[in-house]
Amino acid sequence: FIRSFSSGSIQRSAIKNVTIIGGGLMGAGIAQVAASTGHNVVLVDQTKDILKKSHSSIEKSLQRVVKKQYAEDPKAGEAFMAKVLSQLCTETDPAAAVKSSDLVIEAIVENLEVKKKLFASLDKAAPKHTIFASNTSSIPIKEIAVATKRMDKFGGLHYFNPVPVMKLLEVIRIPETSDDTFNKLLAFGKAMGKVTVNCKDTPGFIVNRLLVPYMMEAVRMVERGEATPQDVDTAMKLGAGYPMGPFELTDYVGLDTCKFIIDGWHAKYPNNPLFDPSPLLNKYVAEGKLGNKVGEGFYKAKK
Ligand code: NAI
Repeated sequence: FIRSFSSGSIQRSAIKNVTIIGGGLMGAGIAQVAASTGHNVVLVDQTKDILKKSHSSIEKSLQRVVKKQYAEDPKAGEAFMAKVLSQLCTETDPAAAVKSSDLVIEAIVENLEVKKKLFASLDKAAPKHTIFASNTSSIPIKEIAVATKRMDKFGGLHYFNPVPVMKLLEVIRIPETSDDTFNKLLAFGKAMGKVTVNCKDTPGFIVNRLLVPYMMEAVRMVERGEATPQDVDTAMKLGAGYPMGPFELTDYVGLDTCKFIIDGWHAKYPNNPLFDPSPLLNKYVAEGKLGNKVGEGFYKAKK
């Protein structure tokens, strides 16, 4: 299964060989899109079993893409799929996976110490020119980057779920990120077919910084007895033109994920009322009503 990077792929950005660490929801999506756009991808996770699941979820997702985009020409679709899969390999040893990498994107568990430990070891194993990026949603990029001696080559690439569908990529720089690194990250994002936005290393970057407090305030409205989740969702869809109401969105994202983010920000910025925890959200999470992934959150999931 292990294969070294091949040469001769597209030249649109300086980055051709990409290592993705973490083959979960986000990492598998990032790997799929990076390989689909002509990059050589090594996907890393802790065990071969996990990687097998990541690989099959990528195959399934690719099949959906091919069915849609190559409806008129199934043969070309098959060829595209074969090419993408030939540019994707898997590995359980992070040090081996970064040997000829231009860019490492980390999408492992949202835990500062675990991320720091990973990057400290990658810093020793990766070539000097390799750029490091984290896909973290809520940890400051700089707090992770300090584990390395290449802070000038460190930044954030924050993708959105599902990665093959969502067009946006937030590209984050810390004060130490060099212009060269930042420009390469932006060019890579565009080569992946994403629309990039730039943001400093602030809590939640752009999207989550606005979205999470909005979702929390929706929960507080229900806590205060001002409106029902159904009415809040209807109001925001029909009155503000949002495709999903805040409660549908919270169920989609996961109530535990929202709680995790807000608790982390509250601990760090206890005086910011936007980051106050919510007893109602905490109650739902304690009851295991985590959202669509378990079949129930604020709503019972549609079958
Ligand atoms: P996930 O739980 O689906 O996947 C994480 C994967 O990392 C698992 O397969 C796990 O086995 C692997 N892993 C854990 N520690 C590892 C290590 N030391 N070495 C190699 N692999 C390791 O998580 P998900 O949702 O994909 O999130 C990953 C990262 O992306 C987190 O930092 C999260 O904050 C961020 N993120 C999540 C989004 C979401 O909508 N779920 C959106 C944007 C960013």
